[in-house]
Amino acid sequence: MKVGIIGGSGVYDAELFQTTADKITTPYGEVEFERGVFGGEEIFFLPRHGKGHSVPPHLINYRANIAAFKMLGVERILATSAVGSLRAELVPGTFVILNQFLDFTKRRALLFDETQVKHLDFTEPYCRQINAILKEELQSLGIKNAEGCYVCTEGPRYETPAEVKMFAQLGGDVVGMTNVPEVTLAKEAEICYSCICTVTNLGAGISEEPLEHEKVVEVMKANSKNLKKLLLKAIPRLQQEPKTCK
Ligand code: HPA
Repeated sequence: MKVGIIGGSGVYDAELFQTTADKITTPYGEVEFERGVFGGEEIFFLPRHGKGHSVPPHLINYRANIAAFKMLGVERILATSAVGSLRAELVPGTFVILNQFLDFTKRRALLFDETQVKHLDFTEPYCRQINAILKEELQSLGIKNAEGCYVCTEGPRYETPAEVKMFAQLGGDVVGMTNVPEVTLAKEAEICYSCICTVTNLGAGISEEPLEHEKVVEVMKANSKNLKKLLLKAIPRLQQEPKTCK
């Protein structure tokens, strides 16, 4: 089965496997990605923010990214993301497997074709089978992990402490700016999708420290060894294990 990896902040190249740069033209625009071979199977990598982290969250061409993977025959997507924590117990360095989201975006494309009457079921936003694989592998590696609900903000600014308090009260566990509409378009494209988040900081107001993008990238870099270990264990299973999630 073909697997696509979406790299978030701090994860800009595949590193795990040798890749060559490629491009694909989708109905929504051109997408630069990397292709490689892993365990004898073709695999694709796409940096969410573009090469050199040049695209801010609200300007990412989410439709083109997911359409590109669909055109390449990808059946499972594993995304990585840096997130802020809405709970003091989810400390920086914790891996959070997403199981729900709260959508606080304001002006992003919601569907591939927004003119259709289309109401997709989101009872289970993330692939339960990929999530189970991630959990098993994180536990066997002894890496601190949790499951949680992602609050997606429009960004690009960080939250106010009042927003962080509100999001936590509403049931959010982590906050970021990119998971919606990535997750929703993957579902529309009928590609199994999960996202492994790394907590890079406590949400605004939980910690006294002001938030800075450079610090987020720094923490991601510091945790990249663990992320790599996880991907090395999880990817072969994603390639080989037949789907039981439907
Ligand atoms: N808020 C929003 N997005 C983020 C954060 C945060 O605290 N940390 C990393 N991405």
